[in-house]
Amino acid sequence: MSKPIVLITGGNTGIGWETVKALAESDTAFTILMGSRSLDKAKDGIKLIQDEIKASSSSSSPSSSKSDIVPIQIDIEDDASIGKCFDEVKRGYGKVDVLVNNAGAAYDIIASETPGPKGVREAWDRSYSVNVTSTQVFTQTFMPLLLAPSPTGSSTTTPPRLLFITSGLSSLTTCASGHNMGSATTQGTSVPKGWPKPAEMTAVAYRSSKTALNMMMLDWVRLLNEDGVKVFAISPGFLATGLGGAGKERLKSFGAGDASMGGVFIRDVVLGKRDADAGLVINRAGTQPCPDRCRRLKDDVGSSHVFVVVALLIEELSPMVFIGWLEGEEKEEEEEEEKEEEDKL
Ligand SMILES: NC(=O)c1ccc[n+]([C@@H]2O[C@H](COP(=O)([O-])OP(=O)(O)OC[C@H]3O[C@@H](n4cnc5c(N)ncnc54)[C@H](OP(=O)(O)O)[C@@H]3O)[C@@H](O)[C@H]2O)c1
Repeated sequence: MSKPIVLITGGNTGIGWETVKALAESDTAFTILMGSRSLDKAKDGIKLIQDEIKASSSSSSPSSSKSDIVPIQIDIEDDASIGKCFDEVKRGYGKVDVLVNNAGAAYDIIASETPGPKGVREAWDRSYSVNVTSTQVFTQTFMPLLLAPSPTGSSTTTPPRLLFITSGLSSLTTCASGHNMGSATTQGTSVPKGWPKPAEMTAVAYRSSKTALNMMMLDWVRLLNEDGVKVFAISPGFLATGLGGAGKERLKSFGAGDASMGGVFIRDVVLGKRDADAGLVINRAGTQPCPDRCRRLKDDVGSSHVFVVVALLIEELSPMVFIGWLEGEEKEEEEEEEKEEEDKL
């Protein structure tokens, strides 16, 4: 009996690595293809997971995973790498059950360090290249494998799932409401008139690229509606990882949570625990920023018309993320989420 096949990009570190680990610790057995630009980093990442599972084993938890973790080279900005990865997965498995578009990057720092057109262009181009264009190329390339029938004798009975890892900073509504605006230096204060404006560090290229990613997700919802694929944009929360280059410890001092929270959340989506929210941008507490309204509207029209609702709700979509220098902004959102959770209990 074959196991469900999960392919995750950027699986060697950060939230991607935590997702692989959470899946490996699950009672459900998977074949996890740990995508990484560097095969060596993937192999090191896999060994670390195996060592940690072994070290935490007890009489009630086994010393090895039920899942297989397989390293696979993938640079989503390199078409040759995507093609090679596709051939390898097709040859080895003939199918992908869950595609996790986790690879992402934040490059706004380049615009701050290199003021002027050159730095701005590079920051925006690179942000869009990884977070938007390459994610789309990768997803489109793997679509035949996501839609391929399960092999005979497969234990997979669940629908295929397509996941995009987005950001709370991508929400148009949140931004337009004045909350979670883009700069720690000007947060809560108006920007003085005139030009040039005071130097500030923003995440505007990153957050714009993630807004574009949300739109891309919606189009996949539309395209795959009849194929029964569950599509999600997932906002993992403000977590301490290598994103943006600020460093995990510094991010923790700003209130970032442990990256394992993102891994467990994404694993739950892979396991189908959030299927009721398919087609939406979700966070750990629900959908942002108006879970009740989103859910009510969705229920009203029925799940087969989810994409229409989602299209209507585009202005309501939002997730969450960090950019190191945005200090406690996302923490504030997390506190709101926690409060919502508490209110529900
Ligand atoms: N951390 C947060 O607070 C947070 C919040 C919301 C959303 N997110 C999103 O979560 C995802 C994972 O980020 P993270 O926080 O875990 O950051 P991270 O620690 O920097 O990990 C990013 C991963 O993406 C990979 N990557 C970058 N460019 C790539 C490319 N061209 N091809 C393939 N892989 C590439 C990196 O590979 P290398 O190791 O080779 O560099 C790394 O494995 C991103 O999409 C990010 O936007 C993060």
